[in-house]
Amino acid sequence: TDPFVEPGHTGYTLVYDAADLVVGPADADSPNRLRRIEGGALVVADGRVVAVGDTADVTREYPAENADTAVDASGKAVTPGFVDPHTHALFAGDRSDEFARKLRGESYQEILAGGGGILKTVRAVRDASTEELAANLTEHLDRMLAFGTTTVEVKSGYGLDTETELRMLDAIDSAAGAHPVDVVPTFMGAHAVPEGTDADDYVDAVVEEQLPAVAEQGVAEFCDVFCDEGAFTAAQSRRVLEAGVERGLTPKIHAEEFARIGGSEVGADVGAASADHLLNATDEDAAALAEAGVTPVLLPGTAFGLGADYADPSLFDEPAIASDFNPNCYARSMGFAATLACVGMGMTPEDALVAATRNAARAVDRDDGLGTLQPGAPGDCLVLDAPSFVHVPYEFGESTVETVVKNGGVVYE
Ligand code: NIG
Ligand code: FE
Repeated sequence: TDPFVEPGHTGYTLVYDAADLVVGPADADSPNRLRRIEGGALVVADGRVVAVGDTADVTREYPAENADTAVDASGKAVTPGFVDPHTHALFAGDRSDEFARKLRGESYQEILAGGGGILKTVRAVRDASTEELAANLTEHLDRMLAFGTTTVEVKSGYGLDTETELRMLDAIDSAAGAHPVDVVPTFMGAHAVPEGTDADDYVDAVVEEQLPAVAEQGVAEFCDVFCDEGAFTAAQSRRVLEAGVERGLTPKIHAEEFARIGGSEVGADVGAASADHLLNATDEDAAALAEAGVTPVLLPGTAFGLGADYADPSLFDEPAIASDFNPNCYARSMGFAATLACVGMGMTPEDALVAATRNAARAVDRDDGLGTLQPGAPGDCLVLDAPSFVHVPYEFGESTVETVVKNGGVVYE
């Protein structure tokens, strides 16, 4: 049970009179992409949605007077909470100098090859205490919650040695335990090759030392790898992810971001939950992912920040989007990711909303209705200071989120 829902809670939370209540994707035979209710209401009890429908119908069974909390959403849109399925939100230090260098023409990969980028953050993270790391993450989780994110995936990968990778996962665990946002922890020892180390030797260390220690510590749920030029080859990535599977960690892969080197194929072969970035993916890659049931995760903020071409969402079935919040992509807002998905990548507002909710839940292997407001789903919803969900991508540079309900409790307003 969630610590932010009152213990012994026996009543319910009611959100009513919503101008535009987005329940989630519509049934396959519906002409509409989304199931939306004008004048809708939603009831959450024991953390789960127990009723959704027209306000008059719902309040007959669940009157506002009997609710523990009743939120009047008249004139406002209500959507599922955002699920952000790809972040590197735990870090230390500052890389604003690299923002300026990139604007002067240096590439991400040149900066990384010169010991900057991920490797700069690694030095800062190794120097930070576990408490400082957890405090940094808490600050970011606070901001993400204010932007409407109710579930977020967070990766390690700025330690690149066993001790620091474990400390990162500990920091994720302790920040998550004290925060209303649900955090999905991912081990990413194979995020970069540490300076002065041979890549194959480092992969040996990830497989033989880091993974057993991470599995023993028991915090991480997924194992991810940066499969790209200047990072890990397809063969090295496969080795890491297969070793992760043996240790009970579900694979994820950074694939075809800068170069198309076979990451999608590896992701499909190992049964990854998601393959992410995919800027250089082909239809062949998309087909392989679809056939293997791997959720494609597109990260428009990263392409935007790098001035690169966006991924092509039309290649993929049911893609998710994520913020990819990290020191190279300093954007914590899923609403902004949705704006870029529409304006930059050409997605419809409907598709962007599904990508940021239900499809994003698939990318972190949640199949309990997360990312929708169907009966049985987690009671995580957003009340927007806007009359329709379209305002999520339509209003950019600020947040439309007025109230956040997590497991039935108001956690932000
Ligand atoms: O997903 N591409 C690799 N990893 C991150 C960037 C991490 C960093 O630059 O610190 C990403 O964009
Ligand atoms: Fe990433």
